[in-house]
Amino acid sequence: MTKKITLVFLGALMAFSGLFAVPQGAGVVSDSTAYAEAPGKSGSAFDRRITERFDSDRAMNHISHLAEEIGPRVAGTDEERESADYIQGELEQYGYEVSTQEFDIADRLEGHLQTSLSDDELAIRIGTGSASTDGEGVSGQVVHAGLGYEDDFPADVEGNIALIERGEFSFWEKAANATEAGAAGVIIYDNAEGLVPPTPSLGGNEASIPVVAVTQADGEMLLSEDDVTASLRISAVTDQTSQNVIAVKEPKGKPVEDPEIVYVTAHYDSVPYSPGASDNASGTSVVLEFARIMEAYPTEKEIRFIFAGAEEIGLVGSRYYVSQLSDDEINRSAANFNLDMVGTNWENATSLYVNVVDGAPNQVWQSASAAAERLDNDTLVLFERGASDHVAFYEAGIDAANFIRREPETASLEPWYHTPFDTIDKISQDRIQEAGELIGSAIYDFARKDIPGQNGNKNRAKSMNTKDYLLNEDESLREGTRQ
Ligand code: BES
Ligand code: ZN
Repeated sequence: MTKKITLVFLGALMAFSGLFAVPQGAGVVSDSTAYAEAPGKSGSAFDRRITERFDSDRAMNHISHLAEEIGPRVAGTDEERESADYIQGELEQYGYEVSTQEFDIADRLEGHLQTSLSDDELAIRIGTGSASTDGEGVSGQVVHAGLGYEDDFPADVEGNIALIERGEFSFWEKAANATEAGAAGVIIYDNAEGLVPPTPSLGGNEASIPVVAVTQADGEMLLSEDDVTASLRISAVTDQTSQNVIAVKEPKGKPVEDPEIVYVTAHYDSVPYSPGASDNASGTSVVLEFARIMEAYPTEKEIRFIFAGAEEIGLVGSRYYVSQLSDDEINRSAANFNLDMVGTNWENATSLYVNVVDGAPNQVWQSASAAAERLDNDTLVLFERGASDHVAFYEAGIDAANFIRREPETASLEPWYHTPFDTIDKISQDRIQEAGELIGSAIYDFARKDIPGQNGNKNRAKSMNTKDYLLNEDESLREGTRQ
């Protein structure tokens, strides 16, 4: 793997050495020496307009507000809306006219599990395909049913709640066996330590009883006592909406006809139970800083700062945004820089991955690696991966990439990803600053010039040979589909 990564950098260097040699001429701003290299590779004078102004103190305050004061920001909830209001308020202070774009999200199930063991509800995840209950829910004795094989169900499970260990065969078969045995509901507990319950997928089947999962620790707690009772309520939440927040920086300086558009995006929602400091208050905070810094700068391209809702339930906000673009806007679209998880302090996450859906070294990668060269930063890795809002732009034919911090050898994410422990103490202000300077310099360099036909969607450069320096995602790195 180390060899592969070396290749990543070597290849990138070879591919772009030509690019660096191109004299770039004077910019639109008055400083004609702006391209002069400073000793120690601190970037061009244009880069320094970003690096010297990017203020990670401000970014940390945004993270604190979103992750500590508001907390989990699940799509469709009041907390998600409150976060959108906060982002809007900040952008207005920077001088933008801000628009919000509301969209429907799919109905979802919401559930509660109360047991006789504690006053607190247990953290649960609801099976995809679980039944909902009426307002009262189902209640009864918690009856141990081993791994959930047919023979594991004692007679008294009838009308009660079956407690089943995860493993050996599917969630669906366990739920079906419990239903057959007459259980009123199913709790599956994890068979490995975990900070949050697993998500029990019923594989496209519909259960006729409620099915939820809890952590191994909670399962063992339920097992440790006799005569535990539980009540399980699951209801559908309907008619919910989420929203995108959008600030547009119009081109400034030399007038350009039909300016190209650069989309700078970050999702601000989180998964349930997680304050989402890294995922993705971090990206949100950095994009807010970009919007603040770049507002007054001359750029020939239009920059749209988009804070997407409902990413965690399937890229819903970004897909909605892209679906509303006109043909003209699509044709003017040059690139999408998406920031998602850019500030973890996990010591192993020393690389800044540039995730591209098809792995091609597109314009986002090119501009990021050119900025990295100017700033003497060697942390970038080109990687083939979707799973964030850049996918929506890629699907519309727009060069798009997601920036995310990962472990260089295995591409792992921080261990507290999507857990209640994704809190602000897991954020490195230095890495926020580094991401801000690097990605900000790349965006500003890309947006400053609008050269007709050079960057736009209709003229995307697709021809570069990716294979030499693309680090392919190993199958084993993909998220497990463990039963
Ligand atoms: N920030 C995360 C994870 C992520 C992982 C982004 C790798 C980019 C590359 C993102 O918010 C997330 O959790 N994505 C989901 C998929 C999405 C379509 C719901 C995931 O990876 O499980
Ligand atoms: Zn995310």
